[in-house]
Amino acid sequence: MKIAVIGGDGTGPEVTREALKVLEAVSKIDNFKFELNHLDWGSERYMRTGEIIPEGGFDLLRQHDALYLGAVGHPDVKPGVIEKGLLLETRFKLDQYINLRPVKLYKGVETPLAGKSPADIDFVVVRENTEDLYAGIGGFLKKGTPDEVATQTAIYTRKGCERCIRWAFDYTRKRNNPKGKRLTLVAKTNVLTFGHDLWMRTFEEVEKEFPDVQTDYNNVDACCMWMVKNPEYYDVIVTTNMFGDIITDIGAVIQGGLGVAAGGNINPEKGGVSMFEPMGGSAPKYTGKNVINPIAAIGAMAMLLQHTGQPKSGDRVLAAIEKVTGTKMKSQAAGKMGYSTQEVGDLVCQNLA
Ligand code: IPM
Ligand code: MN
Repeated sequence: MKIAVIGGDGTGPEVTREALKVLEAVSKIDNFKFELNHLDWGSERYMRTGEIIPEGGFDLLRQHDALYLGAVGHPDVKPGVIEKGLLLETRFKLDQYINLRPVKLYKGVETPLAGKSPADIDFVVVRENTEDLYAGIGGFLKKGTPDEVATQTAIYTRKGCERCIRWAFDYTRKRNNPKGKRLTLVAKTNVLTFGHDLWMRTFEEVEKEFPDVQTDYNNVDACCMWMVKNPEYYDVIVTTNMFGDIITDIGAVIQGGLGVAAGGNINPEKGGVSMFEPMGGSAPKYTGKNVINPIAAIGAMAMLLQHTGQPKSGDRVLAAIEKVTGTKMKSQAAGKMGYSTQEVGDLVCQNLA
């Protein structure tokens, strides 16, 4: 297995180190080999060279079986430059059209939702990852004048929503939730009567291929409410890029915060290259302090393994994470874990069984 590793900015490299430590440990147990290719892409390199992804960078990425990303974002670089130039560009260029974001409350992790336990918070968001407002279409007219106009256009294609919806149905089927297989489409068909009408019609056509999956629809505002009030209702949610971005921050916080939440940018096609990352940012103020929580980063490595030919090892890592959150860590907040970043990584390695 060939993995390209972009540690990135701020605390990205620190949490990446712990994820790689766990990879090394689980590879010994399950007897597989891997090769790492460390890439120094990120803000430091950008400030030094003016280049975010070097020439030929995407061809280089395509030569790997998977990509691992720590975090990007730097206080000295204008917001959006690295996020668009590295993260979004990779999602688009490698056609990673699924953003898979599990929302699972691990044992021992505190949720801000009163009265909810791990049995109540265990669902998955499938976020479309290449279209919508993220397409970057728009512009200014009369910029800087009192008559200024700005446009930002959401793009939805039949192909784009159909492949995402079909993948989500298939995922729901395979997840095979003992509480019942249910896929909820989250959109805003009552207002976005063109783009989300396309999503709805496509959903209704694709559902015919999956008679074993119960289907359901929520407007996105109602979904925000239900995620807080009745998270146990959800099994799998499929949604558009922008709404998926927003609701998965609610998802992250109810599962214990950005120190815990992980995701995968997946190109499910044959030969497709996927990228896995903790959901949190580069947390500059914690850089180098050995206090940041690496659980999300280790969880992202578990997802990488699950989706890149080592599912058993991925499950093993997730089980170890849950032992550590359930029996060791005091909190999931940076600096309050009861352990350092490195110690949490060590604990996960020791608890691999
Ligand atoms: C995420 C992030 C990104 C997004 C940003 C950093 C571009 O918020 O992965 O959720 O909006 O997709
Ligand atoms: Mn986001």
